[in-house]
Amino acid sequence: MASTIHHLREPPDPPDDQSRAVASAYDRSAKRWHATRTELPVNLRQLLNRMLIDCPPAPVVLDVGCGSGIPITRYLVEVGCLMTGLDASGALLEIARREVPEASFLQGDMRLVEPGGSFDAIIAWDSVFHVPRADHAAVFARFASWLKPHGSLLVSLGGSEWEGTSEMMGETFFYSGYAHTESLRLLREAGFDLLNHEIDDPSSRGHLAVLARKGASGHE
Ligand SMILES: C[S@@+](CC[C@H](N)C(=O)[O-])C[C@H]1O[C@@H](n2cnc3c(N)ncnc32)[C@H](O)[C@@H]1O
Repeated sequence: MASTIHHLREPPDPPDDQSRAVASAYDRSAKRWHATRTELPVNLRQLLNRMLIDCPPAPVVLDVGCGSGIPITRYLVEVGCLMTGLDASGALLEIARREVPEASFLQGDMRLVEPGGSFDAIIAWDSVFHVPRADHAAVFARFASWLKPHGSLLVSLGGSEWEGTSEMMGETFFYSGYAHTESLRLLREAGFDLLNHEIDDPSSRGHLAVLARKGASGHE
């Protein structure tokens, strides 16, 4: 599909133990994770639809940390997007390739990989919070550089000043985030105009969903 990605480089190795540990934990729990991802939550569907309003027909979209492709990559294919999924976990990508055969998939670390081409929109749902926060500014700058002018970004973040590990499905996962204000500042600094941001799960540590558009000053 997205003809823009045919010249992909080989996936680099994750750069540090934490990243390797996160990818390995998802590899080991891939089937269990996939089993939890069924319905697309209403609030997420609304955010995705809002993201698409600003896109041309048949937009070229990158799903960063796509997991098993369910429900997000699948939904975006169904509404006419040309999808590329990027993820660090080979086991999750194996499921994603089966579940969403219409999409292209690429294995790698969002801090290192070059997806090639440029995108009308990027969704990074619940993936950036696995990256050490010291790298968040660089990740946002990379997202800006992968987007076409005025491209859309929908990103979720942990939304609190916290770094540590937490248990899920019997595995230990690393999480990292800044306070909301700092995350929003970093996104602006990377060249994004912020359209909407909301704490969409008050029961969590302040899960933050941000819809943004690459502004005139966004990195090329
Ligand atoms: C909580 S899951 C979310 C998956 C999917 N976005 C969803 O909502 O179902 C986090 C995903 O991010 C991926 N991930 C974590 N760190 C990553 C990194 N540095 N580069 C690329 N993917 C990463 C994991 O392998 C996992 O699939």
